[in-house]
Parts: sequence; C-alpha cells; structure tokens
Amino acid sequence: MSEVTPRDREWMAEALTLARRGQFGTAPNPRVGCVLVRDGHVLSSGWHAVVGGPHAEAAALQALPPDGDARGATAYVTLEPCSHHGRTPPCSEALIASGIMRCVVGMVDPNPKVAGSGIDRMRAAGIDVSILEAFPEGRWLNRRFLSAMERGRPWIVLKCAVSADGFIDPPRRKGEMGSLAITSPALRRLTHQWRAEEGAILVGAGTVGNDDPTLNVREAEGPNPLRIVLDPEGRTTADRQVYADGHSTLVVGGPQGLPESVVHLDAEGQFVLPFLMEDLMAREVRSVLVEGGADTLGRFLDAGLWDEIRLCHSTEQTEGGLPAPAWPTEEDAILRGEHPFGTDRVEYWVHPAAAAWIGTHFPPTLSVPLP
Ligand SMILES: NC(=O)c1ccc[n+]([C@@H]2O[C@H](COP(=O)([O-])OP(=O)(O)OC[C@H]3O[C@@H](n4cnc5c(N)ncnc54)[C@H](OP(=O)(O)O)[C@@H]3O)[C@@H](O)[C@H]2O)c1
Repeated sequence: MSEVTPRDREWMAEALTLARRGQFGTAPNPRVGCVLVRDGHVLSSGWHAVVGGPHAEAAALQALPPDGDARGATAYVTLEPCSHHGRTPPCSEALIASGIMRCVVGMVDPNPKVAGSGIDRMRAAGIDVSILEAFPEGRWLNRRFLSAMERGRPWIVLKCAVSADGFIDPPRRKGEMGSLAITSPALRRLTHQWRAEEGAILVGAGTVGNDDPTLNVREAEGPNPLRIVLDPEGRTTADRQVYADGHSTLVVGGPQGLPESVVHLDAEGQFVLPFLMEDLMAREVRSVLVEGGADTLGRFLDAGLWDEIRLCHSTEQTEGGLPAPAWPTEEDAILRGEHPFGTDRVEYWVHPAAAAWIGTHFPPTLSVPLP
C-alpha cells in the first residue's frame, strides 16, 4: 500500500470539488467525486449527480475520450467504491476492469453493504489501494449520509426567523391566517435553497393551522423535500395545503379524511420524536429541516435532537407576538459563523456532540455558499 502524498491530497481535493456538484440530487446516496490521473495528467473525471444515475467512478470512466483508456492510472475517489449491485452495478468491479493500477480512497464507506468490501475486492485484484487517514472535508460534505449510517438517525437542522425583539411570529389579529414574513425576500431565496438540500422539512400543527404553508421549493432550484407535520392530537384540518395539494406529506396524527398523497403515522402511546426518527431511517430520509414553530423547535432543542441551527435575525421589531424558544448560547453550542444578508443577519450554530462526531472542519456558512 503506497503512502498518501501531498500531491495525492491535491487530487483528492479536486475530486471533492466535483462531489459537491451532487449537492441537490444524490440523496439518499452520498455525494462522491472521482478523478482519473495518469502521469500527472487528468484523463477524465466524474461525480454522482443524481440518485439512480451513474456513480462517480462510472461517470469518470464513461467520460474517458473514445480512443482512451484508464490502464495504469490512479483513481482518486472521495468515498470507497461500492461492491454491491444496488441501483447501479458495483464500481469496484468497473475500476478493476478498467485496468487502473492504484486507487486513493477518501474514506471507507460505513454503509454495511460496503464497509471495506470494495477496497478488499480491488486489493484482491492487485490494485494498490491507499486510504486517507483523515478526510474531515469529505465527512462534512456527507454528514447527512454518515449520520444515518453511523448514528442511526437523520442529520437535523433547526431553522428560524427571529425579529430584533425576539419574536418568531408578529402579533396576529384574532383569526388572522397566513404566513407573516419576518425576514427579507432575498433571505427567503437562500432558505429555499436550504430546503432543497434536505431530505425532509418538518413543522408542527400550530404552523400548519396558522400559516397554511406549502413547504416547497419555489424561490430556488432543487427538489422538494418530503413534508412532515407533527399533529398527534389531530388539531389540523384536511383543507390545509400540505394535505390537499396532491404532493406527498407525512403526518404524525393529523385529521381524518386525508387523500392518498398523505402518509399517516400513528404514534399512539409512543414518544413522537424517537418514533419519527426510526420511521425516517426506514424511509432513507437522511436529513430534516425543522422550520417551526416555537413549540416544535423547543421540543427538538429540549431533546438535544439537533445538529445545526440557522437563525435568521431581522433588524425589524414585531413589538410582540410569539416568543422564540430559548436558543443555546456559546456556553453550550458552537457559533460557527455570522453573516449579514441584506438587512438581515444569519447565525450558524453547530451542536458540540455533532461537531465531535463529524469533525470540526466545517465551512462558516455550513451549507450552500451565500449568493
Ligand atoms: N419565524 C419562523 O421562522 C417561523 C417558522 C415556522 C412557524 N412560525 C410561526 O410559529 C407559529 C406556530 O408556532 P406554535 O409554537 O404555536 O406551533 P407549532 O410549533 O407549529 O406546533 C406545535 C404543535 O405541534 C405538535 N407537536 C410538535 N412537536 C411535537 C412533538 N415532538 N410531540 C408531539 N406533538 C408535537 C403539538 O401539537 P398538540 O399540542 O396538538 O399535541 C404542538 O402543540 C405560527 O404562527 C407560525 O407563523 C414561525
């Protein structure tokens, strides 16, 4: 097994840049990039763009010039090549067949279906396989996938817009319905990008009742996350958009008479959050964006069931309304970054346990770069 050199690390950084391109399409799969190099030159490269589509290694092999081949090359792959027949054929076999001489792997795939067997297979075929000792950037990029594989639960992001005087909903006139914006439209585009990046978006019964939100991605490019409503007491009504618009929603509890597009879960006699996490694992939902309201966010905070918090602070006061839950402070959480955004400001927090597990090499904005 060859030592990993600084040059190897540079090629791996290129592969990671490619892996990032799968940001909105690969879930529940990880994001993976691959670069094929021979004699110090890139032969071809690829990335996993969309679930069901070619894996990064297959994409790189497909991108070889028509008269070219990969014989004697080194493959830089951010995650161990797979060894099982899933939605696509095994990549370790494709690399063996391509005649590469060496493979540098960013990290071993913790998926029990792989877990070192792709590496073993390549080594058995005579390929010199090196594994990076540490790859914190690669771990952060795949934190959602790794959370499911290593911790047995989705990665959880709490998001909330807060007024300058600490409220998350302005005062409402009696019976006033609909979403009352706290932050600017420019920031809303960013938050829709956040939605597109996560496997699911979750709100409580109060938000569905008051705001009647659609919870979809309208102001950015990307897939709609699965919508989840927590309503164990069945307080919401079937006419709400999350139930009636024909798109899929998962509701814990909820009202009677829901259409087929809505999956109903009965949590009777169970603790709702652990019950939900188990169900989401079975559905291969790798991450959840919790958008509120105050009670729901408070329950996730109280349970310590969160990994990131993205707080969108407005400079405007609402002079009353619904108070924000008690956020963690710098004594019990990591404030990673603070960014002005038009007239608003975004704060990015990370749970210390999440940081200890995934590694502390995370970018200041945690997610997509600010536009
Ligand atoms: N500024 C923002 O970013 C933002 C975002 C979203 C919403 N909001 C605002 O927040 C307001 C609603 O907040 P809210 O605190 O009244 O209500 P909420 O958090 O939306 O919903 C609370 C209800 O959801 C159910 N629920 C949530 N988590 C649960 C759990 N773990 N176990 C069991 N039940 C659970 C409970 O229903 P039961 O009591 O029936 O059991 C609970 O009372 C809305 O007016 C909305 O405008 C603001």
